Amino acid sequence: MTDFADSYIKQSELALEPIFPFLCDSVVSRAEPRLAGLTVADLGGGTGQWLEALFALGIGFGLLLDENPAMVSHARARFELIGCRGHAIRCRAEAIPICSASCDLAISRNSMHLWADIARGWAEIFRILVPGGSAFIGRGFGPDIPGDVREKVKTARKAIRAKDAACREEPQSPPPLEVVELAKACGFRNVQMVPDGKSYWILAKKNGHAP
Ligand SMILES: C[S@@+](CC[C@H](N)C(=O)[O-])C[C@H]1O[C@@H](n2cnc3c(N)ncnc32)[C@H](O)[C@@H]1O
Repeated sequence: MTDFADSYIKQSELALEPIFPFLCDSVVSRAEPRLAGLTVADLGGGTGQWLEALFALGIGFGLLLDENPAMVSHARARFELIGCRGHAIRCRAEAIPICSASCDLAISRNSMHLWADIARGWAEIFRILVPGGSAFIGRGFGPDIPGDVREKVKTARKAIRAKDAACREEPQSPPPLEVVELAKACGFRNVQMVPDGKSYWILAKKNGHAP
């Protein structure tokens, strides 16, 4: 567990940093045009880099949810260092210890394929979102990253992974249409699949108006 976290944190901070501003652009252009003051939950949030990039754009509160204790400690230390309104909780995406209808936006990158029960995870996403809230959940470097940045990140990540024995192959993602159906079965009405190279993102909106 710790080996994985150490190795992933290094890989993420050395190679993945450039992707997060583009993922924020994707959120703004595709899900939530106004980020100011929003409460955002990142499921399997790892190092917390995506939330940090969203803090820079004015979100009000960020919740990092991750089952790995080393990831949670790392994210807590980062949030403290930058002095943001961020909180990291050790939990599974399938059992999130926060109130229903308490988040405006749920995000997750490169984690859903690791959840033991993806249907349960989506049920939790639906539960924690306010009416009118959005989910942007997927895998990859982001659908709106420019090609040259994508290539640079890919090369940098490959170089780090080649030198690090603790880097392991990850399981395949479930077929996208299966996830679209799971999200709809949880109550999401507006669900779209957004391709991202060989990966994909699921954009889902909970019916209703934000309070
Ligand atoms: C590949 S890392 C991705 C981290 C981060 N989201 C990113 O984009 O760099 C996957 C993360 O998902 C977490 N994870 C795996 N299964 C989980 C689950 N069922 N619930 C919560 N977190 C989970 C892992 O601990 C790990 O931090």
